[in-house]
Amino acid sequence: MSVIVPWPGNDAVAQGMANALACPVLRVESRRFPDGEMYVRLHGACTGHAAAVVASLDRPDEKTPGLLFLADALRDAGAESVGLVAPYLAYLRQDTRFSPGEAVSSRTFAKVISHSFDWLVTVDPHLHRYASLSDVYSIPTTVVHAAGAVAAWIAEHIHTPILIGPDSESAQWVSDIAARIGVPWLVLEKVRHGDRDVVVSIPDASKLPGRTPVLVDDILSSGRTMIAAASQLRSLGAGDVVCIGVHAILGGDAEAAMKDAGVGRIVTCNTIAHPTNGIELTRAIAVATAPFLGTDRPGRQVRPAAEE
Ligand code: R5P
Repeated sequence: MSVIVPWPGNDAVAQGMANALACPVLRVESRRFPDGEMYVRLHGACTGHAAAVVASLDRPDEKTPGLLFLADALRDAGAESVGLVAPYLAYLRQDTRFSPGEAVSSRTFAKVISHSFDWLVTVDPHLHRYASLSDVYSIPTTVVHAAGAVAAWIAEHIHTPILIGPDSESAQWVSDIAARIGVPWLVLEKVRHGDRDVVVSIPDASKLPGRTPVLVDDILSSGRTMIAAASQLRSLGAGDVVCIGVHAILGGDAEAAMKDAGVGRIVTCNTIAHPTNGIELTRAIAVATAPFLGTDRPGRQVRPAAEE
């Protein structure tokens, strides 16, 4: 038997996974003590079960201690294995020491998660200088790729698109999505001068005329990358720009600032619950999780999605 254990706030994806995998959902209670420390309580039985904790790791500093407590609480309650389904996986962007003395947080975070969980499922992790998650995670990992679902959304909603990645890292997913639907693509050149200070340039604008620019990136955080890219495109005469992000962190004024910069539509995958979510990945996440829970044997409910 298996159980799905949503960290508070992850109920929609967790319930969708539970439906797909025919597993019960256990409830987790969490709150802060007056001194700010975290209290975690697991409700329900899991003895002998494989447990999948579902927690998207936006705002990871608020959640990580509680998730570690929860993993131990599940083992104390008799779970035979405890994995983590983190549709958004945090702390991958600091993947090197850019300046002396900096902490390479990606390595430390991966070490901590690998110590507490038996396996990890995530969606399009930000792999730039790491070739794969196994460079830093010591537990088995499975990555769900959003490209198929993003390509299907673009094909259904956008007339004569051109896909544009805002920086060289984005070439990996932009080229994949473009190939699936047979449309042109290009990547911009990005220089980041600070957290909110981003400059992009367009090396070759000749493919743009007559096409709807669709910016595609893995993470929308402050929105400054998309704002710089959209502003460049607008200065070249582009109409409303469509922005697609896999992970909608979109903190503070990000969404409003993107709209002010000429972004007509923002669409994201449901890896982080956000009003811009329009691309559904729950089933693909369930399919990727099934082998870890032993629910992918013949006769069970989960079958790979046709597009994967
Ligand atoms: C970074 O390399 C990522 O791929 C994104 O481009 C970046 O995280 C976006 O951040 P922001 O929205 O703050 O510009």
